[in-house]
Amino acid sequence: MMTADISPHDLDDASDADLRGQYDLAVAAFAVDRPDAPKPDYDTFVGRLRAIPPGVSRQWCWVARRRGRMAGIAITQLSGPENDNSVVVDVRVLPELRRQGIGTALLRRALGESPVGDRELVVGRGVTAGGDGEQWIRARGFTVVQRVALQVLTVSEADPALWEVPVPPGHRLERWTGAAPDALVESYARARGAIGDAPTGDSSYRHPHWSVPGVRQAEQDARRRGVEHRTVVVVHEASDAVVGLTELEIFPGMPGTAVQQDTAVMPGHRGRGLGRTVKAAMMRRLLAERPGIAVVVTNVDASNDHMTRVNHQLGYVTTRIMLTAEAALGALESRLGAPEGQHDLP
Ligand SMILES: CC(C)(COP(=O)(O)OP(=O)(O)OC[C@H]1O[C@@H](n2cnc3c(N)ncnc32)[C@H](O)[C@@H]1OP(=O)(O)O)[C@@H](O)C(=O)NCCC(=O)NCCS
Repeated sequence: MMTADISPHDLDDASDADLRGQYDLAVAAFAVDRPDAPKPDYDTFVGRLRAIPPGVSRQWCWVARRRGRMAGIAITQLSGPENDNSVVVDVRVLPELRRQGIGTALLRRALGESPVGDRELVVGRGVTAGGDGEQWIRARGFTVVQRVALQVLTVSEADPALWEVPVPPGHRLERWTGAAPDALVESYARARGAIGDAPTGDSSYRHPHWSVPGVRQAEQDARRRGVEHRTVVVVHEASDAVVGLTELEIFPGMPGTAVQQDTAVMPGHRGRGLGRTVKAAMMRRLLAERPGIAVVVTNVDASNDHMTRVNHQLGYVTTRIMLTAEAALGALESRLGAPEGQHDLP
């Protein structure tokens, strides 16, 4: 009989030894689960671990230790208002200790102790298609609801000429880092809503409803989280309104990585290359102002041929297909059984 000690873990207050243990665990796990990705450096890893994604208010963490060694980690996050029915989980176990029940014990404990309130849906994201994680989520009774392509632009390997994309006549570009200018914020909020047309497979995920207060709130959240939030928009000159936009974020502790977020073009303005125009302009500006950025990463629904093509034209390479999976919380908890402090594993 083998045991693992599972305990709550404060990521912001973790000791250097624990963070180092988490790093070693992640390096070993990523070598198996993400063979396409370069080994993360320590600081970037810690930054990424602590970074709370947009739309998430807080996160909680548990770690499993075996004979003092970091054997696994589970993180839960509560999504914002549009997705207040779900709790997002991420579980990772050291490859050599898999198939011993540690992942399941971590999931049971994390769900049992997270302040989920009346949320009913458990969501797992970023599960490598075809890997151990897919086998596990299926065995635990999750349903795969979306396939997502991870795309990576390696700056040193991309030709900057790809970002010299002209602005179509009748339009102009505007850009900012942080808060949207008052003169544009209303049409910018409207245009942000166009992301609602992006495919999300069979996922229950609901895109945010954007409004001016919502935009201001998101800007405030980014500031509070220490996130550098960069925006490029395309303005339709005749109406002086934002009709397309792209968003990019740089998280604290990850100075070499930029995360390309939403890109959206208003329905009446699609098919004119505005998406590529704003994304190309984002790259030009980003690298002029932040020459230390080595990679830009983005996620796109695997069926979204249009965005995928635009990204390839800009130098992104699809490196992995990742799955999103969902399970009803009540049914999952009864399959998992009651949470315990110490788990006797078979
Ligand atoms: C997913 C993960 C956390 C599972 O951890 P684990 O400790 O190996 O999981 P468990 O031992 O609790 O597995 C329980 C059951 O899932 C199934 N399972 C898990 N991994 C499997 C695999 N590679 N192949 C087939 N079935 C598998 C089995 O039915 C297993 O029970 P069994 O060993 O008695 O047959 C681990 O594989 C991992 O870290 N993967 C990478 C990260 C990831 O994708 N996480 C999911 C994100 S939510």
